[in-house]
Amino acid sequence: MATLVGGITTSHVPAIGRAIAQGLQNEPYWKPFFDGFVPVRRWLHDTARPDVVVVVYNDHGLNFFLDKMPTFAVGAAPEYLNADEGWGIPQVPAFRGEQDLSWHLIESLVADEFDLTTCQEMVVDHAFTLPMALLWPDQAWPVRVVPVCINTVQLPLPSARRCYALGEAIGRAVRRWPADQRVLVLGTGGLSHQLDGARAGFINKDFDLRFMDSLVNDPRWATQYSTHELVEHTGTQGVELLMWLATRAALGEHVREVHRNYHIPISNTASGLMVLEPAG
Ligand code: DHB
Ligand code: FE
Repeated sequence: MATLVGGITTSHVPAIGRAIAQGLQNEPYWKPFFDGFVPVRRWLHDTARPDVVVVVYNDHGLNFFLDKMPTFAVGAAPEYLNADEGWGIPQVPAFRGEQDLSWHLIESLVADEFDLTTCQEMVVDHAFTLPMALLWPDQAWPVRVVPVCINTVQLPLPSARRCYALGEAIGRAVRRWPADQRVLVLGTGGLSHQLDGARAGFINKDFDLRFMDSLVNDPRWATQYSTHELVEHTGTQGVELLMWLATRAALGEHVREVHRNYHIPISNTASGLMVLEPAG
């Protein structure tokens, strides 16, 4: 059976792509952000050693647009291409899909009564590509991938409780995948940020830190909030923290915190980073 080696949760911001392209990692603005990933890469290389990454993220209008918006979508493609989103950042090389896990996950989640959209063609945006580029800066991608996409773009969104349940079901499915493979779950989004409207620039450090703490010892804490309450607390795009919640849920009841970083702001976003290992 497969081994679920751990979870990484991180923010995603298009400006990271520009910073990488321009080699700004050691500039004062960027250094506290990029330095957070050094221990994560060491953990990946020395301890986690994943073969496959399940990437839980939210598309921003590249693969899905407002005309067709699945609540939950799972990729089942042989490869996933990046494409121009209009941010002016270079595209990254294609990702190899792990189709056997894709179909195992799809069958298991549907059996668990999640009504999914399955995608045998799928392009992936900055929410997928930039966290991968932070984990593997040479962009040679030593892992195969399965994208899991959660709608945070167009109302109505799935509840925190539903995303937690999805994550639990992903964890069960991965552990039952009959393959001698090491699987990492990578959740990308959040933390607090709002890109538009009267509260543009809104950040809530107190809530973010409380949320990060909760993932270690009280992982269902955020499920007490409705979507609208989460938007109130974290901003319209802060609701992307649902990716963190699903990722945490996949790891089981108990986890060990390996690493965290929190830095304000990167562009308009409170950028967070955590590494968690299943425990017990
Ligand atoms: C920003 C943050 C995001 O999550 C995103 O998808 C796009 C932009 C930002 O802070 O600039
Ligand atoms: Fe985003």
